[in-house]
Amino acid sequence: MDIFSLKNRIIVITGAAGLLGRQHAWAVAEAGGTPVLLDLSQAALDDFSAEINSRFSCDCSGRAVDITDEASVKAACDSILSRHGKVDGLINNAANNPKMEASGTTNFSRLENFPMEIWSNDLAVGLTGSYLCTKYFGHAMAKNGHGGSIINVSSDLGLIAPDQRLYRNENAASDQQPVKPVTYSVVKTGLIGLTRYISTYWADVPVRCNAICPGGVENGQPADFMKEVISRIPMGRMARKDEYKGLIVFLLSEASSYINGAVIAADGGRTAW
Ligand SMILES: NC(=O)c1ccc[n+]([C@@H]2O[C@H](COP(=O)([O-])OP(=O)(O)OC[C@H]3O[C@@H](n4cnc5c(N)ncnc54)[C@H](O)[C@@H]3O)[C@@H](O)[C@H]2O)c1
Repeated sequence: MDIFSLKNRIIVITGAAGLLGRQHAWAVAEAGGTPVLLDLSQAALDDFSAEINSRFSCDCSGRAVDITDEASVKAACDSILSRHGKVDGLINNAANNPKMEASGTTNFSRLENFPMEIWSNDLAVGLTGSYLCTKYFGHAMAKNGHGGSIINVSSDLGLIAPDQRLYRNENAASDQQPVKPVTYSVVKTGLIGLTRYISTYWADVPVRCNAICPGGVENGQPADFMKEVISRIPMGRMARKDEYKGLIVFLLSEASSYINGAVIAADGGRTAW
């Protein structure tokens, strides 16, 4: 089963201090690779990289990088190349989780009310950030002599529209109902376009690029909401946060050497219904 090994692989992970980013980093280290963590807070990354290094014998490190800022992404790439000499993988995982209003506050999530500032920021992190990381880390992979693997973290909502009935507030008028913001669908669908573009761009090198479309992770959501969500999932439950680790290791490793440009749903069957 050596084909699943990430031994000697340098894997850059964005949003690595978040709920799923931590799982991706842990999976890389468990498979023998070296996770390189990018997120906004250096303190959070230092704590987490120390935790990984004390559990696994790897040279995990973290860098505070705002992935929307090209100069910062370029500087991070230069510093990673000088420390490790190469990059073998990239997980474009960071994204804003668009906020929705608490009950009783003025509606901003509806399309008619949605502020330009939130639109721009959500696209900057989810799309521009993924593009910039692909530009620098993908280019580094393209030059390293054996290629690499890029994973774009889309969502089940990159494949289907949000079911806005899930977010219904019985106390709000119909033109004030909260909704999942439009940016989530645009970012997650846009990442599938980026995936297809990159999967052909460096295919000869080869740098492979695939998208994963995870379903929602159970993370303390209110019981009423959970009941409604679960009724739309054939497997009858949300995901555990560690249930994407296998897919991440598979797509980064030689086990998936002929998988390129794929869009892989991992959603308990939600988008099959
Ligand atoms: N959690 C879920 O249920 C779920 C389901 C489907 C898809 N996803 C996707 O998985 C990915 C991770 O989700 P999560 O739940 O771990 O989110 P999260 O909010 O816990 O983590 C996102 C991380 O990205 C970081 N980040 C935000 N802006 C950044 C920037 N400009 N530069 C660098 N880092 C930045 C944040 O600091 C945070 O640590 C996201 O793309 C999300 O859309 C999550």
